[in-house]
Amino acid sequence: AGPKPLAGKKLLLTAGPTREALDPVRFMSNHSSGKMGFALAEQAVALGAEVTLVSGPVSLATPAGVTRIDVESAEQMLEAVLAALPGQDIFIGCAAVADYRPLAVADNKIKKSNERMVVELVRNPDILATVAQQQPRPFTVGFAAETDNVEQYARDKLARKGLDLIAANDVSKPDQGFNANHNALTLYWADGHKSLGHSDKGQQARLMLDTIADHLACQ
Ligand code: PMT
Repeated sequence: AGPKPLAGKKLLLTAGPTREALDPVRFMSNHSSGKMGFALAEQAVALGAEVTLVSGPVSLATPAGVTRIDVESAEQMLEAVLAALPGQDIFIGCAAVADYRPLAVADNKIKKSNERMVVELVRNPDILATVAQQQPRPFTVGFAAETDNVEQYARDKLARKGLDLIAANDVSKPDQGFNANHNALTLYWADGHKSLGHSDKGQQARLMLDTIADHLACQ
């Protein structure tokens, strides 16, 4: 076997959902299981990288050789990512970060009263865009979870967030995307794209990291 393609590279990635608290016992979240991000962490170690994984709340074991930092909210995830960022060669944002959080977190459990209640939400910081704005910055990779117009929305995110590469998944289809064991990613970069077919998340992760390694080798 030849040298490992990510030997000597430091990779930081996020995985899982975030939880945005409403009160001491309730939160808003989503269906991310962490499987895609944990598969990327495991495969990156196999390819020789030194891997730091910032994870939202998931029920997965830490892959061997991975340094794991657990967080709950988007704000905590941003803080952990920025603290770990110096010296990283690659950043991959695989976490399903909540775009909004409740404006106010009640100190005590919210009591039932009216038939309807309104919760005011406020935008969360964009972790991926914040990483992409750092100087110097790592090779910066995002995900796009879309239910329609997948290529258009993925290319929009690639440009708007200033990324080097984006991995798009159509999360409207069964047996891929959120909480599935398989995925069907298409990678987009400024002047190219590559479809990875449909396979288990370990294989998708491997193919995605091979493409990232190719891009790094050309830099
Ligand atoms: O965890 P699994 O069950 O295995 O499912 C995998 C997955 C579907 C969660 C994964 O493949 C995936 O698509 N992750 C990104 C989910 C997402 O939030 O996509 P988005 O299109 O809303 O966000 C675009 C990108 O911006 C993502 O890289 C996201 O991490 C990042 N983002 C979004 C909002 C925010 N406030 N900060 C961010 O960094």
